[in-house]
Amino acid sequence: MKPVKVGICGLGTVGSGTFNVLKRNAEEIARRAGRGIEVAQIAQRRPNPQCDTGSTPITAEVLAVADNPEIDVVVELIGGYTLARELVLRAIANGKHVVTANKALIAVHGNEIFAKAREQGVIVAFEASVAGGIPVIKALREGLAANRINWVAGIINGTGNFILSEMREKGRTFPDVLAEAQALGYAEADPTFDVEGIDAAHKLTILASIAFGIPLQFDKAYTEGITRLTTADVGYAEALGYRIKHLGVARSTDQGIELRVHPTLIPADRLIANVNGVMNAVMVNGDAVGSTLFYGAGAGQEPTASAVVADLVDVVRAMTSDPENRVPHLAFQPDALSDHPVLPIEACESAYYLRIQAKDHPGVLAQVASILSARGINIESIMQKEAEEHDGLVPMILLTHRVTERHMVEAITALEALDDVVGDVVRLRVEHLN
Ligand code: HSE
Repeated sequence: MKPVKVGICGLGTVGSGTFNVLKRNAEEIARRAGRGIEVAQIAQRRPNPQCDTGSTPITAEVLAVADNPEIDVVVELIGGYTLARELVLRAIANGKHVVTANKALIAVHGNEIFAKAREQGVIVAFEASVAGGIPVIKALREGLAANRINWVAGIINGTGNFILSEMREKGRTFPDVLAEAQALGYAEADPTFDVEGIDAAHKLTILASIAFGIPLQFDKAYTEGITRLTTADVGYAEALGYRIKHLGVARSTDQGIELRVHPTLIPADRLIANVNGVMNAVMVNGDAVGSTLFYGAGAGQEPTASAVVADLVDVVRAMTSDPENRVPHLAFQPDALSDHPVLPIEACESAYYLRIQAKDHPGVLAQVASILSARGINIESIMQKEAEEHDGLVPMILLTHRVTERHMVEAITALEALDDVVGDVVRLRVEHLN
């Protein structure tokens, strides 16, 4: 049978990794797919001297690949929202299948893209968009299809996890580690996407849609970054038996879906609390299976290429099948998506870590306890440190039971208004993941 012809758009870190893996493992891949997969055209706007593309035709015009009648599958690896969206929609309109690693594109424009793909009877595959080389989309969409999913929680940004790990283990500074992540090709073009939780929110939006059968709703995701984390809080968390991770949490409740990314204390003995460096991990809790954990490299050249090429194999296997009987893009049949709302952060519920800087006066603790109890907030533990030499203030660290964000915000406002409390109360969420 003739090989399937693929056009790779973008020959950066992931594009060159995809080209190399397709070439190196060509025979093995053909045995799996049932046909060869041949790169028939590459679009690259800047030369990549690190990738030997041999005699493969190259164009600087990305859209030319979508218009090339030779090409069966367009692989979109240029990133961003604008040109990538145009490329993908053009490829679909021309009846081509699409493989993309672009989480921003899927999270923001996925509903539109999937609708167009259904009209044209083509596949849009996006395994590489979440957690790099971990086949978590496949696992959630197919392997766990028997379950009602209760929650998904993941470390889904390699750059952020690399930064937090290096800071904790080696005491390195934030900019120093970020520069290394950029040099290694882990970080987004705009690294604020990594450290402010936007990249993780793109990925969480995709996971939540597949887990709960809801349309993609990136605009409703809550994001909080890691840039304001202090070594003091990292240390106190350790002393209490927790690690701080930048976690994406999607939880189904009777009221709606929680969709949030924020620094989170996790008990140090959980496997996921020990996921370090650029590694990612996603926990999925289903009613039948219980808790599962998927672990692997969340970014990088060949780990991400591994997911892109697996999608290509899937597309080749399915391209002759009846479009109505393929695995739906968002796991659930398009006419069976639910309108269960995504909850605002004020309605989300978690346990909390609070750090209060208090004057060393009698009765402060009683006032703090009274503010919390008046709002039904149950204290789990309190740690009070000695007064700091430089300012005489006493750091008071509390862990609470689960409470809605709205009540916690009210309590923090009241705490900050106390005469004996100085500065802002540090508030971090705690998830026990059990
Ligand atoms: N910037 C992303 C990360 C790349 O660090 O995880 C993979 O999506």
